[in-house]
Amino acid sequence: MNLFADARMGNAIKSDKMAPLVEQIASSVTIDPTIILNIARLKTKDEYTYLHSVAVCALMVNLARKMGMAESVMQEVGMAGLLHDVGKTSIPDNILSKPGKLDDLEWITVRNHPQRGHDILSASTGIGSIALEVCLRHHEKMDGTGYPGGIPAENLSVYTRMAAICDVYDAITSQRSYNTPMSASQALAKMQSWSGHFDKMILRDFIDSLGILPVGTLLRLDRDELAMVVGESPSNYAAPIVRRFYSLRGHCEIEPKDLDIGRIKSRRILAIEDPEDWGWSDWSAYSQKLLAKTAS
Ligand SMILES: [Fe+2]
Repeated sequence: MNLFADARMGNAIKSDKMAPLVEQIASSVTIDPTIILNIARLKTKDEYTYLHSVAVCALMVNLARKMGMAESVMQEVGMAGLLHDVGKTSIPDNILSKPGKLDDLEWITVRNHPQRGHDILSASTGIGSIALEVCLRHHEKMDGTGYPGGIPAENLSVYTRMAAICDVYDAITSQRSYNTPMSASQALAKMQSWSGHFDKMILRDFIDSLGILPVGTLLRLDRDELAMVVGESPSNYAAPIVRRFYSLRGHCEIEPKDLDIGRIKSRRILAIEDPEDWGWSDWSAYSQKLLAKTAS
């Protein structure tokens, strides 16, 4: 778990209940030797997918806890995270690790991994219904444009919706040879801005479960100032860097200034605010403009 004890995992790894639970999940995989062989194969075949699977397991367990799910369900949810990409063992190496764009045929092969994974798990004993479903459905989207089924939201279970969020979040915050990873707060802001992909309520819970504020979040500071999150503090990833831009005393915009809340101990965040309550009907446009400004 030390591998994941970095900024993108936020509070997920700080919880001391996390490590034993994930360990327990990993060890319970031995119930079926076929499955452990597949996981082992994934580890040697594709280190990235293996680490991604463990990270999704941890994120899923952390989210399930935030959502108040029972311990027994949390274990199943974690298991589902660990096994969700097992179908990638069936993708040829040259496609799996291809850095550039995939051609149509390669893309079809990649898009087949949920079904292949489901076939592998169905042929094994002791795999619960949550893991089976998550494996098949983790690339479905709320607006029905996902794959392999193009399933509409009403037929996507809460577990599938959780997996879609944890899967994408880990993918876009992870370092791969050919991409620059997003920071945690950037990734969360991006995910909030995509319409039709995720369950908004569960995404809210996910953000809470990480304890990381997305870029663009409006905050009220001490000294009667409003500020917006622009990044994470390098000194303390759970604390944001904020751009203060508005004085509540003067009822006016002020010269933007960035404050590293993790470092400047004299400044405090008082509350997360709803931009509409402060008269910003189009906060996303306003925040983009503010983000583009240079601050001192
Ligand atoms: Fe996948």
